[in-house]
Amino acid sequence: MNKIVSILDSMEYGPAPEDDAAVRAWLARHKGRFGHFVAGAFTRPGKANTFPAVNPATGETLAEVAEGGEKDVDAAVEAATKAFKSWSALTGTARARHLYALARQVQKHARFLAVLETLDNGKPIRETRDIDVPLVARHFYHHAGWAELRDQEFPGHAPVGVCGQIIPWNFPLLMLAWKVAPALAAGCTVVLKSAEHTPLSALAFAEICREAGLPAGVFNLVNGGGATGAALAAHDGLAKLAFTGSTEVGRVLRRQSAGTGKKLSLELGGKSPFIVFDNADLDAAIEGVVDAIWFNQGEVCCAGSRAIVQEGVADKFHARLKARMETLRVGAPLDKSTDIGAVVAPVQIEQIRARVEAGLREGAVLHQPSWAGEHFDRATQGGCFFPPSLFTGVSPASPLAQEEIFGPVLVSMTFRTPGEAIALANNSRYGLAASIWSQNLDTAFDAARKVKAGVVWINSTNMFDAAVGFGGYKESGFGREGGREGMFEYLTPAWQKKARPLPESAPLAAPVPVDDETGPGASPAGLDRTVKLYVGGKQARPDSGYSYPVLDSRGRIITEAGHGNRKDIRNAVEAARKAESWSAMTGHARAQVLYFLAENLELRAAEFAARIARMTGVAAKKAAAEVEASVARLIHYAARADKYDGRVRAPQPRMLALALPEPYEVIGISCPDEAPLLAFVSLVAPAIAMGNRVVVTPSQHHPLAACDLYQVLDTSDVPGGVVNIVTGDRDQLASVMAKHDDIAACWYVGSAEGSAMVEAESAGNLKATWVNNGKARDWFDAGQGQGEEFLFHATRIKSIWTPFGV
Ligand code: NAI
Ligand code: MG
Repeated sequence: MNKIVSILDSMEYGPAPEDDAAVRAWLARHKGRFGHFVAGAFTRPGKANTFPAVNPATGETLAEVAEGGEKDVDAAVEAATKAFKSWSALTGTARARHLYALARQVQKHARFLAVLETLDNGKPIRETRDIDVPLVARHFYHHAGWAELRDQEFPGHAPVGVCGQIIPWNFPLLMLAWKVAPALAAGCTVVLKSAEHTPLSALAFAEICREAGLPAGVFNLVNGGGATGAALAAHDGLAKLAFTGSTEVGRVLRRQSAGTGKKLSLELGGKSPFIVFDNADLDAAIEGVVDAIWFNQGEVCCAGSRAIVQEGVADKFHARLKARMETLRVGAPLDKSTDIGAVVAPVQIEQIRARVEAGLREGAVLHQPSWAGEHFDRATQGGCFFPPSLFTGVSPASPLAQEEIFGPVLVSMTFRTPGEAIALANNSRYGLAASIWSQNLDTAFDAARKVKAGVVWINSTNMFDAAVGFGGYKESGFGREGGREGMFEYLTPAWQKKARPLPESAPLAAPVPVDDETGPGASPAGLDRTVKLYVGGKQARPDSGYSYPVLDSRGRIITEAGHGNRKDIRNAVEAARKAESWSAMTGHARAQVLYFLAENLELRAAEFAARIARMTGVAAKKAAAEVEASVARLIHYAARADKYDGRVRAPQPRMLALALPEPYEVIGISCPDEAPLLAFVSLVAPAIAMGNRVVVTPSQHHPLAACDLYQVLDTSDVPGGVVNIVTGDRDQLASVMAKHDDIAACWYVGSAEGSAMVEAESAGNLKATWVNNGKARDWFDAGQGQGEEFLFHATRIKSIWTPFGV
């Protein structure tokens, strides 16, 4: 009697370990040694060049795994290349059957996979059993559907080709599924590199591929660490590289793959805000914190690691949170009543400790449960355990509040007004996710729209589904995984596979000082006036004080154009930033402006055509056709402005997920010389139709087509700062734009070298880039010069999850 009362009081549990016999038998069957999986078979692991797969809860070595070198990577890429031909030629239905078979096989082995993942990674069995593995199966089922529907849903698209995929250790099998399923659905083949701390579940998946009868070479696996990953990333047999991991490595991969023509998607770190308004359901929010930062030991890229709590409820919130922390159970991952398991490896524990100690030195206040401390340390010796932790008294600029800790450590700050909450939330170089707690729909949605993050959970956190896109803003990376938006990462417009190289653009003539006597505004004999730049809705003199001659098709000077420089781009970006009301307008309102622009351009069609003919030397008929096509293109995007909108999904009962295309805000655009008016309009119109503001370098040799637009823009109610035009050397200006931290995306159409430069220099703030790799595009062709491809690049999907009726 006494005993029961005391148990009810202490809520002590007996041990409830999951049986690991099946996994032990599997390891024994492989004699504790694994090779790579290439062309449908396991390679034989040698004696040398292996690394241990370790259970972080005990320090036990579970198996020895071959570490891949260049030769292994070569063999895997070769196998994937061979398999691509027949795999991509299968019907969608045939590929779908394979994906269904993989999903079924995952479900069949669900318990085995959950135990294996828990042993190798340290995460609690409750999570692998109820979250990781079911989501893996769901991912393959969902993408079986995309395989079936590819040709109907993505007409004119082809699979990109052989994909290199590099995954982290925090959700090993789930990250595999996020990458492999859409690739296979699209018709691509894969070489995957698993993470060195957690190689085992990918090996089990390789076996599943064999059991399920996946054709050899469609999925290949190379084990190893950073060096193996680097060898894969550098392989020139890849058409696409997909990476999830640290921002640091993401940046390295951005630079390395620049100019190779490889399509790249990066899913990187985060420091996601968890905003609690004073009208939140506090008890629900407390459970939310548990799922936000103590789920998966806090080793979650989208962990809600920065609590931002409204002052009036902060004390109450912290008190309840501390009480809840007391009841969290840290311990044996295989035990079914464990909440927090082991951190993945000793190096990760050390990193967490170092960041916590630095926080203490800064004067932040650390709270851990009463049961943490020496006793806890002794009890968990030999394993990588860290108690749930809360920091208060954190200043927003401190490393604690800015850097990813990737452990079970929450930092908490307070705010007074909603505006302050958003400012704090967005005060981060990251932008992966956000969690917002308020019972007031108005407050919650207002914050959801204003927070700069790819995934927003209202009154919920860490929800995932295969149909809902996942991916970041800012330095959290670019590209989406999951849903329709995620499929585009593995597809390419079919015509681009056969695109021809663009003719080289001659260098610009040397700049000369602007002659103020005869310069801007004046009309010297035989010359038109020197054209200025267009910044913030006003014509501006180039900062350099230099201009360059614009020649006609026979090499005679028509006029001089401003030689824009770094300062001009900065001013243009500043003006674009200020024009934020454009992004908040409705699509309908933006459409009206675009229609008006089309009308006003049409009124001056003859004048524009004459100018194009004189600059480029094309026949009058062709020049007239270019103006006509430009007018049509404006009308096309006016029509699209209020129709390229979001989707609503219902991924779970009582849960809606909105997929909202949001503008990048400021896009830097570099235009080619070809079709100087049409290419300019084809790039600028979709960008502004979607609510972006742009800084554009027009054709460097034929800039006048764009400069003649200044007046048309003025008379068409395009607000100042929405379109900013800086003439000059295309590649010099593109370099400034690629490096600019307030530009979120760069589009570049020019040379192969210029494309490489833009990609490499964008690595600073990891802006999204869209470059032509020196390939030509037929701007007159409606399939190449306009359409969804442009709108896709002009927006990024924000997924907003919101529960109802709970
Ligand atoms: P990492 O970024 O080094 O590892 C991720 C993957 O990239 C692994 O498969 C690794 O082998 C591979 N890799 C490493 N260097 C590479 C290179 N030069 N080229 C190609 N592949 C390479 O992350 P790590 O060292 O495991 O963890 C360090 C920190 O990164 C963590 O503390 C955490 O802050 C962050 N991280 C973030 C993740 C996320 O999901 N956003 C996942 C893992 C780590
Ligand atoms: Mg391990």
